[in-house]
Amino acid sequence: MKVIVTNSYDETCAVIANMIKELVNAKPDAKLGLATGGTPVPIYKKLIEMNKAGEVDFSRVHTVNLDEYCGIPGTHDQSYRYFMDTNLFDHINIDKKNTFVASGMGDFEANARELEEKVREGGAADLQLLGIGHNGHIGFNEPCESFPAAVHPVELTESTIQANSRLFDRVEDVPTRAITMGIGTILKARRILLIAGADKREIVEKALTGPVTPWVPASVLQLHRDVTVITCGE
Ligand code: F6R
Repeated sequence: MKVIVTNSYDETCAVIANMIKELVNAKPDAKLGLATGGTPVPIYKKLIEMNKAGEVDFSRVHTVNLDEYCGIPGTHDQSYRYFMDTNLFDHINIDKKNTFVASGMGDFEANARELEEKVREGGAADLQLLGIGHNGHIGFNEPCESFPAAVHPVELTESTIQANSRLFDRVEDVPTRAITMGIGTILKARRILLIAGADKREIVEKALTGPVTPWVPASVLQLHRDVTVITCGE
């Protein structure tokens, strides 16, 4: 595992955006696993700037997102499909047909199977971007008794609902379920980049140096052969 500590959050995001740019320039049809949440937003902004400046071409790139809320459609402004469109896809030259965010509507089990198929299609992701929750969750794999292997519908914990309520009018509006890649699904990626702001320092340290346990889901990253953790000192 490689750990990069930068001087600022802006530098953290620049380092990651550059890594993604270099990957896509070296492999124009790269498959990227993407994340939502507050943490990656500045990375996506930088990728948009790079794309507009002609430094990186996304026309042949494929993407698959980690997770999606259940019970809200992709047109809802808090859905992860809407997030990806407005924060990245609508502003770069990617073909939207090559972007996949699971549906959170209808048959959740069928939606989970569809996401698992997309993860398999064309082989493992060249890179999976991850944020981390304060309780150590990655994707929506919440602390629990065993690592979930495959894509699955999940009940969100109270702490995650509370953390995500900042983006909704009322805490009661936060969906209580989601569809998420499982831990096994995430570990299939060839390379994993975990990004964490200074506010996540404590949980990152626990995940990277503590025991590997499903009670700290991100601790499983210690077992992957190519993980880079990028965080900042302040
Ligand atoms: C989002 C996701 C989550 C977030 C995590 C951190 O697709 O899978 O695991 O990465 O909840 O969220 P932020 O970045 O908002 O602190």
